[in-house]
Amino acid sequence: AFNLRNRNFLKLLDFTPREIGHLLSLSAELKKAKYGGYEQPRLSGKNIALIFEKSSTRTRCAFEVAAFDQGARVSYLGPSGSQIGHKESMKDTARVLGRMYDGIQYRGYGQSVVEELGQYAGVPVWNGLTDEFHPTQILADFLTMQEHSPDKQLQDIKFAYLGDARNNMGNSLMVGAAKMGMDIRLVAPKDYWPEEALVTQCLAIAAETGARITLTESVQEGVQGCDFLYTDVWVSMGEAQSAWDERVKTMLPYQVNAATLKATGNPKVKFMHCLPAFHNDETTVGKEVAEKYGLSGLEVTEEVFESAHSIVFDQAENRMHTIKAVMVATLGQ
Ligand code: CP
Ligand code: NVA
Repeated sequence: AFNLRNRNFLKLLDFTPREIGHLLSLSAELKKAKYGGYEQPRLSGKNIALIFEKSSTRTRCAFEVAAFDQGARVSYLGPSGSQIGHKESMKDTARVLGRMYDGIQYRGYGQSVVEELGQYAGVPVWNGLTDEFHPTQILADFLTMQEHSPDKQLQDIKFAYLGDARNNMGNSLMVGAAKMGMDIRLVAPKDYWPEEALVTQCLAIAAETGARITLTESVQEGVQGCDFLYTDVWVSMGEAQSAWDERVKTMLPYQVNAATLKATGNPKVKFMHCLPAFHNDETTVGKEVAEKYGLSGLEVTEEVFESAHSIVFDQAENRMHTIKAVMVATLGQ
């Protein structure tokens, strides 16, 4: 019934709700098989290229471990050391790597670059994050929501995304929620709502799936009754560090803290974050910002991040199981 073989995985807009649902159930199956010790390798003999033009911990490790579990081998191409981008075009790179590899992961800047790679490689290409979209992250997030909502279907889930809703996470969560018929509230200053064209596209999808999409500047209105609160960094990879001055000021009302959890009215509300997160001053950027603005947490407080509400490491683990499902579905025997 579902044949995703040889498909690219570039953005959720390219997939039907049933296809996304299939990837989620395959993820759960593969996770169970790994825990049960009966996982079958379905990528034996496959060679996979992992191109990273931006840094990564989770995505790179998830692709590598998923590939190893399934019997495939990987090559990592980092931000420097290859010809990509400066000496060779993406169109040529795609045709070269497509002759050697069976699948290619790409993390970079513009979505148009991964789309071009996908157009010319001739083998499945998977988007490991662009400025516009982070589709593998959404699969992990929805699997995690399902695991933490045993009595609910995705379409019964209400969640709010607070902060920079114009970045890859805001965009992708909105598309994912629209596809899966969920109730999503994008809670952000108006200038940081997703682009109008994407909102319009998602509202059209929502009209078919029954999803509810709310854009609001009001935290109180946005988080009311939510099962999950989600946030992300206020300055994304590839943006100028000088953006912090303005972001800290504009975004602070959207910080996820104890009061935000309380405002949901749901004592069981869960906290989510794709990570990495600035919740204390233990990182270089965290320290700089802490000193400059006198804050120790940015998009989330240490209190919430470390609380029993927080399910961020379940999400991180699920990156691996869901990325495995994407590779198995598009490339597996
Ligand atoms: N969430 C995520 O994509 O993390 P990395 O940047 O570490 O891959
Ligand atoms: N919006 C963040 C997500 C990191 C996984 C970034 O692009 O840096």
